[in-house]
Amino acid sequence: MNFNLTEEHLMIRDAARDFAQTELLPGVIDRDNKQEFPNELVKKMGELGFLGIMVDPKYGGSGMDTFSYVLIMEELSKIDASASVIVSVNNSLVCYGIEQYGSEEQKQKYLTKLATGEFIGAFCLSEPEAGSDATSQKTTALDMGDHYIINGTKNWITNGGRSDVYLVIAQTDRDKGHKGINAFIVEKGMEGFDIGPKEDKLGIRGSDTHTLQFNDVKVPKENRIGDDGFGFKFAMKTLSGGRIGIAAQALGIAAGAYELALKYSKERKAFGTEICNHQAIAFKLADMYTDITAARHLVMKAAWDKDEGNDYDISGAMAKLYASKVAMEHTVEAVQIHGGNGFVKDYHVERLMRDAKITQIYEGTSEIQKIIISRSIIKG
Ligand code: CAA
Repeated sequence: MNFNLTEEHLMIRDAARDFAQTELLPGVIDRDNKQEFPNELVKKMGELGFLGIMVDPKYGGSGMDTFSYVLIMEELSKIDASASVIVSVNNSLVCYGIEQYGSEEQKQKYLTKLATGEFIGAFCLSEPEAGSDATSQKTTALDMGDHYIINGTKNWITNGGRSDVYLVIAQTDRDKGHKGINAFIVEKGMEGFDIGPKEDKLGIRGSDTHTLQFNDVKVPKENRIGDDGFGFKFAMKTLSGGRIGIAAQALGIAAGAYELALKYSKERKAFGTEICNHQAIAFKLADMYTDITAARHLVMKAAWDKDEGNDYDISGAMAKLYASKVAMEHTVEAVQIHGGNGFVKDYHVERLMRDAKITQIYEGTSEIQKIIISRSIIKG
């Protein structure tokens, strides 16, 4: 394994860091308070190539590797995890899904716009009764010959109210189980497709999460992704890469909180010295630094596996499981190090703590990651 960053990687990381500091940081507290989607910032991220990081330049993408993607995700997430989840879903679930498994027509029609940020995408798998148990899709897609008719409800959909393109997973033939599931490209504005209420969330409040309703939505057959019955595998394969992005998000949240806690501990004085000189604080910093470094290595390993063409189901699941645990534990510690100041919004760490929680839930809960990892090690 070679985790040395090339000149290009360093440049990309610095560009993302600079963008996060100068553009994301100034309004981040306000957007969190108001649950405001960062429309203008998304446009700018599109111009910087952050919305189609790994997409082939012939479809308008930046043509970078997964390593670059996780570096960008970490830097954006240190400052604003709401912005970074928009980037993550657009890149690893929507762009990747269409580029890897879509037809040439679908790539020309949708990917070229998604990769540049002209379009935003959403990935619609979860339902009221099918979040973790993804084979139990209640949304139906009836095959009508030249088109499908989609009916059902999707829940907790990131970018749900703002997208132009929705990848929708639905059951075509219940008797075939997961082999009867398909994935479709649904466009904003298709008749019968309604955007339901926006969720009022604990964290990532600047991102846009909605329930979606499909009432007899007519979707042309050419909008199905892959062969008939490929939808479940499509979702699983796409989510495997998505988990690397969310692991990098969790890493960024943890690293952002750690950097703030370290800085604060070198400035804040108590009992006659800066608090970092007290072992109670210094040991917390040592634990944070060690765990964050370990999480970064797992994230890099998963990214490296994907770039090398190795299987990354397990390394992605391990990276997400561990990095999200580290994010949750150490954002709490960062608040503790800040004392009373950590409990107020101006110091950012309480927001990072709230944002950390979702990384243990979306794109497969921690328990789902353990299922994936344990099945693999037991199978051998
Ligand atoms: N790649 C390819 N194929 C895969 C696969 C993968 N990673 N994982 C499973 N499959 C295949 C299996 O090989 C099997 O195919 P065969 O029958 O042909 O062998 C088929 O899919 C069924 O697999 P399982 O029997 O393992 O399925 P299962 O019902 O036991 O579930 C699971 C497996 C891993 C628990 C899966 O249901 C899962 O990942 N659940 C979590 C879903 C999830 O992440 N939801 C989050 C929603 S999306 C989101 O959060 C986006 C957002 O907005 C941010």
